Amino acid sequence: MRILVTAGPTREALDPVRYLTNRSSGKMGYAMADAFARAGHQVLLVSGPTSLEVPDGVDFLPIESADEMFGAVQRHIGRMDAAVFAAAVADYRPSVVADQKIKKTGETLTLELVRTPDILGSVRGDFGFTGTLVGFAAETENLLENARAKLARKGCDLVIANDVSKPGIGFDSDRNELLLVFPQHVEALPEDEKHHLAPRIVREIERLMAER
Ligand code: C5P
Repeated sequence: MRILVTAGPTREALDPVRYLTNRSSGKMGYAMADAFARAGHQVLLVSGPTSLEVPDGVDFLPIESADEMFGAVQRHIGRMDAAVFAAAVADYRPSVVADQKIKKTGETLTLELVRTPDILGSVRGDFGFTGTLVGFAAETENLLENARAKLARKGCDLVIANDVSKPGIGFDSDRNELLLVFPQHVEALPEDEKHHLAPRIVREIERLMAER
């Protein structure tokens, strides 16, 4: 099967030398891409900047900003059987990118931010994708409730939720503890290495693809 995986943070430029980003390491998305490739699938990994090695046998499309990730997904999703959105896409970007380095002048500096495109939220409607759709939900509160809302709102077949307020798991960690939220049931995956969790999730997604 052909699988698209988004991973990593995005970088939203402020000026030629500065950007806004987040703590995503990309590890969960890369582990998913690796597990899909090992299971014999054809994987396209669309990734923001990370320090990770591209897994063997995976096609790699590096991007920087949310806008670039949106464009890459829009171009490639049509031929995919499943798409897994593990990227931590910036929700806002600076409204203007200064073409020269911003100088320190006043005691305070106010940035105006504007919303970035909701990539996952565009997949069903705007891109007309009919394959298996999997989102992630990184939350610090009301994990299950937020994941269920995301599942319905974005037309996902599965939302994988993790509590990023728990120390030692989630963002920028090798370990995670996950809640797999399906339309009809929920399954908890206890804390483990991301590389052990990924093949289990791949098997669940293979089951969803087979059901379609
Ligand atoms: O940021 P949020 O928790 O809403 O992200 C939920 C899901 O939506 C994740 O799968 C993430 O990759 C995706 N997302 C996206 N485009 C955005 C924001 C989030 O594809 N602009």
